[in-house]
Amino acid sequence: MLNCRVCGGPVEEFLDFGQQPLANAFREVGQTDDEFFFRLAVGLCGSCTMVQLVEEVPRIRMFHDAYPYHSSGSSVMRKHFDATARHFLETELTGHDPFIVELGCNDGIMLKAVAEEGVRHLGVEPCGGVAELAKAAGVRVISEFFQDSTAAGIRAADGPADVIFAANTISHIPYMESILSGVDRLLKPDGIFVFEDPYLGDIVRRSAFDQIYDEHFYFFTARSVRAMAERHGFALVDVERLPVHGGEVRYTLARQGARHPTASVAELLAEEEELGLGRMETLRGFAANVRKNRDDLVALLTDLRAQGRTVIGYGAAAKSATVTNYCGIGPDLVAYVTDSTAAKQGRLTPGSHLPVRPPSAFSDPYPDYALLFAWNHAEEIMAKERAFHEAGGKWILWVPEVRIV
Ligand code: SAH
Ligand code: TYD
Ligand code: ZN
Repeated sequence: MLNCRVCGGPVEEFLDFGQQPLANAFREVGQTDDEFFFRLAVGLCGSCTMVQLVEEVPRIRMFHDAYPYHSSGSSVMRKHFDATARHFLETELTGHDPFIVELGCNDGIMLKAVAEEGVRHLGVEPCGGVAELAKAAGVRVISEFFQDSTAAGIRAADGPADVIFAANTISHIPYMESILSGVDRLLKPDGIFVFEDPYLGDIVRRSAFDQIYDEHFYFFTARSVRAMAERHGFALVDVERLPVHGGEVRYTLARQGARHPTASVAELLAEEEELGLGRMETLRGFAANVRKNRDDLVALLTDLRAQGRTVIGYGAAAKSATVTNYCGIGPDLVAYVTDSTAAKQGRLTPGSHLPVRPPSAFSDPYPDYALLFAWNHAEEIMAKERAFHEAGGKWILWVPEVRIV
């Protein structure tokens, strides 16, 4: 029996993807023989209901100086984080010499706007490449992994923080004990810890199994986050549903008794109870939908190949690693994938080895079908590529079910 990484309770597995590569480990052409694989499987904690991976990848394998994910690649995300910065500036950073810390600030997508206002801030970003981009954007950054010892250093040098923020980062960190002790150490008595991550409720509702890969260690709900917070003297005081990245929740923690919980906390907890998000039966049902989507997608792509249709992938998202490797999609089914990130272009997708080409390759010539790997940016991408659709091109999606648009 496995033990929960948060509370030590018993974890029961409900979905196994088998051996998978690291989702952001793009390969150089000709260098595919030494790939790292691990068993990707998810389970539910019978005590605190935290859904989590059953195997942990050493962090240094995932987060290093050549980490290829650049947050600012999406205009929708740039707007989202600009609005996030404005929100903190207007609501929480209004006192005398306020201080905000962001964990996993990446290329500075959020802190940039804070820096421009001259407000005291610090980004903590272990990946040197993206940390340099943040610095170039005027953001103050330390290139380290946040943990308890890092928090002690920041507190000693800069004093306590009004806000600690993290987007798509806390769910990436297995060592939660050290994170929450660090937050406790660094936060002012009435400060808040705010983090947003993919929401298990949306993943289950949409059968979005490609959200499951090495970096996404936890799949949060209001219930599991509340339990996790309470172990460290924090309370869950607000939740907000976000439309980004296929459905996320922004959780706000404060010290117990420091702030009144909003009504949305009780509402989301009740919704989760009704959906049965903390129950094995619900998650087994999700796993069955996932297997059906996989089979349907493979059948569709095999059929299109038999008909001589061309199919290429759009967006070499980390998520596409799970789809291609779980479904066995190689260059025979999807010739290549286009992506706007320079660091991914000219390389091969991990495990499945689809060549990654620049966006210009998309219309040169247009394929008959495009597999929308970056489905979470569907609106932005479909608007940008209207000419493809007008020329008779079709999009293939597998979330929430396999369909042609
Ligand atoms: N916040 C950005 C980036 C998300 S990608 C966005 O929402 O777009 C996840 C980021 O978390 C990576 O940049 C990675 O380097 C960072 N990360 C991973 N472990 C971390 C840790 N212990 N402390 C701080 N950042 C971490
Ligand atoms: P994203 O879905 O943001 O995250 P993850 O890698 O965590 O799954 O990744 C989207 C990828 O798609 C990223 O590599 C950039 C690329 N992309 C494009 O090529 N064109 C676009 O218009 C957009 C929005 C993204
Ligand atoms: Zn647990």
